This record gives sequence, structure tokens and C-alpha cells, in this order.
Amino acid sequence: MAQKYHIVTYGCQMNVHESEKIAGILRRVGYTESGALEEADIIVFNTCCIRENAENHAFGNIGALKKLKKQKPELLIAVGGCMTQEKGKTEVLKKKFPFIDIMFGTLNLEDLETLILRKRTQKKKVIEIREKEGEIIEFPDAYRTSYPNAWVNIMYGCNNFCSYCIVPYVRGRERSRKSEHILNEVRQLVKEGYKEITLLGQNVNSYGSDGKTDMTFAQLLDAVASIEGNFRVRFMTSHPKDFNEDVVKVMEKHRKICRLVHLPVQSGSNAVLKEMNRRYTREKYLSEIEMLKSRLPEAEVTTDIIVGFPGETEDDYLQTEDLVKTVDYASAFTFVYSPRQGTKAAEMDNQIPEDVQKDRIMRLVELVNSLTRKKSEKYVGKTVEILCEDYDAKKGLYLGRDEFGRMGYFQSEKDVIGQFIQLKITKANGISLFGEMQEGK
Ligand code: SAH
Ligand code: SF4
Ligand code: F3S
Repeated sequence: MAQKYHIVTYGCQMNVHESEKIAGILRRVGYTESGALEEADIIVFNTCCIRENAENHAFGNIGALKKLKKQKPELLIAVGGCMTQEKGKTEVLKKKFPFIDIMFGTLNLEDLETLILRKRTQKKKVIEIREKEGEIIEFPDAYRTSYPNAWVNIMYGCNNFCSYCIVPYVRGRERSRKSEHILNEVRQLVKEGYKEITLLGQNVNSYGSDGKTDMTFAQLLDAVASIEGNFRVRFMTSHPKDFNEDVVKVMEKHRKICRLVHLPVQSGSNAVLKEMNRRYTREKYLSEIEMLKSRLPEAEVTTDIIVGFPGETEDDYLQTEDLVKTVDYASAFTFVYSPRQGTKAAEMDNQIPEDVQKDRIMRLVELVNSLTRKKSEKYVGKTVEILCEDYDAKKGLYLGRDEFGRMGYFQSEKDVIGQFIQLKITKANGISLFGEMQEGK
């Protein structure tokens, strides 16, 4: 009987897609997918270290395998992802969980295949973490699990060193994938029937600035959206220091590109933005949104916000609230600042007490939720186009998203996953919408 794999993923979209590449490698080696963790012959943890709670989550789940490993000593446990790439973290993992068999980094994902083969012939654990980024490795056999959506990397790494952020330390310097590789991948995905292509990078607007490819991001986006077929295009993440009108002009040209820009602001206060090393001001940020809306009035913006950054005063925080109200985001991800070892902000001597951070995040979440609720209510009575993604067996409803990422649920007699549906919205509940499928459209 074929051996089975199970992958546990933490973190961002980048990691979700990397787990698809890991699945591709595991299948190459001869494993097949396992539904349940207990049935797996190899379990791979694809970790994240963006905030402390992401790490604790992984620690908890890895620790919980101690018993299973005892009962089933031939079970292989592998740990990869951003955590293993953190300085000193493999030592911590080794000590805490001596039963881990294999560790690999984000910078040498491709080595997983040889590491597994090596582990099969030796008792000793196999650890290989590459310290410096190398040439980009193509993964033509990623095993995709998110049909009708497909993630496509356009670049890796980050050069920005925002003072709170660990990503540049665990993902290496920015490098762009060759445009022809990206375009070929998208063409193939469209041919296979994928309906939503999301271009991924930590800072997509600086695509090509390493001189490793022949296009700017705007040119690449134009080329992707020019590919024939019935599909949507998304991209993330845009960094406000580099977001520009060229990209918006390309959006204007192609209806295929969703009118949604994820533009993480982090804070509404110039003083905090400066300490964060974000390299834009509140005013520049707002002027970009104005530019976007002047060309595309229907466009929506989503964002990421951090509260409780070192030195953030009540007034700084209120400026963030004010900005949130001004922009009227489609949605916002809100985080409490989490010190990351090795980053500049972790060394700052004006860390904010936990109770103040908690108070601010609660107020902000309430504000964001109330704005999102209001946005949802405006949907009622309208008909929107949804790309059906899945079936929720518990609810007995199909679900999908509109171009702004809003989730809509509906009933259908037949399986409509992968189809664009006209949905008449009848009810809004928090961030979710409920509606009726319009037949014959
Ligand atoms: N490259 C993207 C985002 C990467 S991480 C960008 O520049 O926007 C996703 C989000 O996690 C960030 O936007 C930020 O809001 C949050 N984040 C990153 N480091 C954090 C930290 N140390 N504490 C809390 N939130 C953090
Ligand atoms: Fe982190 Fe800043 Fe890079 Fe985003 S741009 S990954 S927040 S360092
Ligand atoms: Fe993503 Fe977490 Fe790494 S957010 S880039 S998986 S640290």
C-alpha cells in the first residue's frame, strides 16, 4: 500500500502555495495524500514566525505528536517553513522535540526530496537549512489543492526591513522570477480550468527591480491579464512606498483584474510609520488611494494594521482609527505588535504594555467590524458575480467570493464549483453574504 502524507500549514498565502510545492515533492517521492493525521507515514509542518502566536501554534501541534511517534516509530516528522530559517530556531526545535526527523528551510525547499531519501537510509535526523538565497528553483509539479484558485509566485524574499518584521531574515533578499516562466505557468493554469490567478510577492510593485527579468510589475500584470480565457487576476502584496499609477492604468485596461488592492498601511501616524521604516507618510498613502479611486471609482482597498508598536501613543493610535474611517476599507487584518528577535523594533526601549495593546486592538477590531458590517448591508438587493469555490457541507450551501473578496453563500441543485455565478444578495450577516443564484446568466 502506498505511503501517505499529511501537511500542516501556518502563515500567509506564500506558505499555502509552498505547501502545494511540498505536496508535489512528496508525491514525486511516492507518497499519496492522507485525510487524517493519524494515518500519515510522513507529517510535514510548514511553519510561520511572523508573530509569536504563529510560533506557539506550531510548537503546540508538533509537541502533540510525541505520543503518535512513540506508537508509530516509523512515522517521519519533518519541519520546514519560516521558523526553521530563524536564527537559532532549529536548535530550539531539536531540544524541545527530539523526535523530529527532518528539518529544511524556505531557502532550500527543493532539498526535501533528497532529505527524505537520506532519512530512509540513516537513523540520525537530517537537518539542512540553506543560509543564503540561491537561484530560483521552478516547481512544475506543485500539487494544487485550491481549485478554482491558483497561486503564482512572481518573486521571493524582501528587501524592505520594516523594523518589526522577520520576513527579510527568513526569506532572503528579493528576487524576481523570469516573466516567461510566470506567463507559461498562468497559461497552463488557465488551460487546466483555473478561474482565479493570484500573483504573489512580498512587495509586488518592485518586481523586476533586481534586474533579473525583463518586465516591470505593471508590464507583467498587463501580460498576465492579456492571456485569453475566462479568469480573474489578483495580486498581493502592494507596498504603499512603490504602488503607482502604471499599475492602476493596467487595471483600468483589463476587466479581468479584480478592482481590489491590498495596501497594508500598518499605522495612521507618521511618527509610527517612520519608526516602522515603512518609507511613506499617511498623506502619500491617502493620495495613492485617491489616485486609485479617481481612475477606478468602484475600487476597494484592504489593509493590514499593527497596534501597540513601540512608542505608539494614544494619539498615534487615534490617527490609525481616523485613517480607517477615512479610507473605509473593504476589510482589514488587525494585529497586535509582536516583538521578533533580531529585528530593530524588538530592541526599542519603549515597548507598549500588554494591557494597552489589548485595549487598542479591541477598539480597532470593533471599529473595523462595524465598517465591514455596514459594507455588507449595502450589498443586500444587489446582484454580484461570485466565483464558486467550495461546498460547505455543514451549512448545505455553496460558497464563493466576489472580486472584492466578499464571501457569498447560496443553494444550488448541481455542483457549480469553478463557475462564475450571478448571485442576488438577500441577507448580510457580519462579513458573509447570502443570496440566490440567478439562473440562465
Ligand atoms: N509583505 C507584506 C506583508 C507581510 S506580513 C507587507 O509588506 O505588507 C503580513 C502582515 O503581518 C504585515 O502586513 C503586518 O501587518 C503583520 N506583521 C508583520 N510583522 C509583525 C509583527 N512583528 N507583529 C505584528 N504584526 C506583524
Ligand atoms: Fe515585512 Fe515590510 Fe517586507 Fe512586508 S515589506 S515582508 S512587512 S519587511
Ligand atoms: Fe509568511 Fe509567516 Fe513566513 S507570514 S513569509 S509564513 S513568516
